[in-house]
Amino acid sequence: RDREPIVAIDGPAGAGKSTVTRLVAEALGFLYLDTGAMYRAIAWLVLEKKIALDDEPAIAECLESTTLTLRRTNSTPPLQVSIDNTDVTQAIRTPQVTANVSAVAKLSAVRQVLLKQQQQWGEKGGIVAEGRDIGTHVFPNAELKIFLTASAQERARRRLQDLAHQGETQIDLEQMEKEIQHRDYIDSTRKIAPLCKAPDAIELVTDGLSIEEVTQAILKLYARHCTTF
Ligand code: CDP
Ligand code: CDP
Repeated sequence: RDREPIVAIDGPAGAGKSTVTRLVAEALGFLYLDTGAMYRAIAWLVLEKKIALDDEPAIAECLESTTLTLRRTNSTPPLQVSIDNTDVTQAIRTPQVTANVSAVAKLSAVRQVLLKQQQQWGEKGGIVAEGRDIGTHVFPNAELKIFLTASAQERARRRLQDLAHQGETQIDLEQMEKEIQHRDYIDSTRKIAPLCKAPDAIELVTDGLSIEEVTQAILKLYARHCTTF
């Protein structure tokens, strides 16, 4: 092999991708790549500059003069995200960015730029990357592809719990479920690199499974698929 193995983890919002990917990368001593954070950073930029979400030429022009940087940290979160010299690690997690990111992520100008940067991160392998199109477009040759899912209700319940921990109690389960389903709908129906399971991905349905159980299941699959004796 001319590079270390690549693990691709895709799935809809709230399936547990970020949490589990981080733990799997840690266990394997691999790089962790959160591609959603990159799309969130561009959405943040577009909102900050008050560019219309569907003005693709203006967004493309803005991206030409922008530098997006991901840096590994030894703390939580393990990735620091910057746009030019501004640290946006926290700012990309606001409800406003979450509500608008899918509109920006469907633009070809945005996907082209980020795809290149993501593939550069994985050049040498030894990486666990998560997103929506990792197994289908970013790393179609990944040694192990996982499609993580859970019912919309379970995913909404998890997200609501996250928000409650942050002191946010305004949204109810039904509203959260609608928001999640709306974002999944835009992500799965867009023309370029939509959210979908790669034919050779292994689907893991995580309703009722703990983070630890999902992490162990993936590590077991890794041992089976990616190590030669
Ligand atoms: O963590 P959460 O499920 O909220 O979403 P995320 O992984 O941070 O991704 C945010 C958004 O970025 C998604 O809803 C997609 O619109 C977009 N995205 C994408 O289009 N392709 C990827 N590989 C990753 C994210
Ligand atoms: O990245 P993605 O949107 O797929 O999901 P996440 O942000 O990793 O997970 C959403 C929430 O669900 C987090 O608070 C996780 O701790 C939780 N979770 C869980 O309770 N059980 C699992 N099996 C996986 C995640």
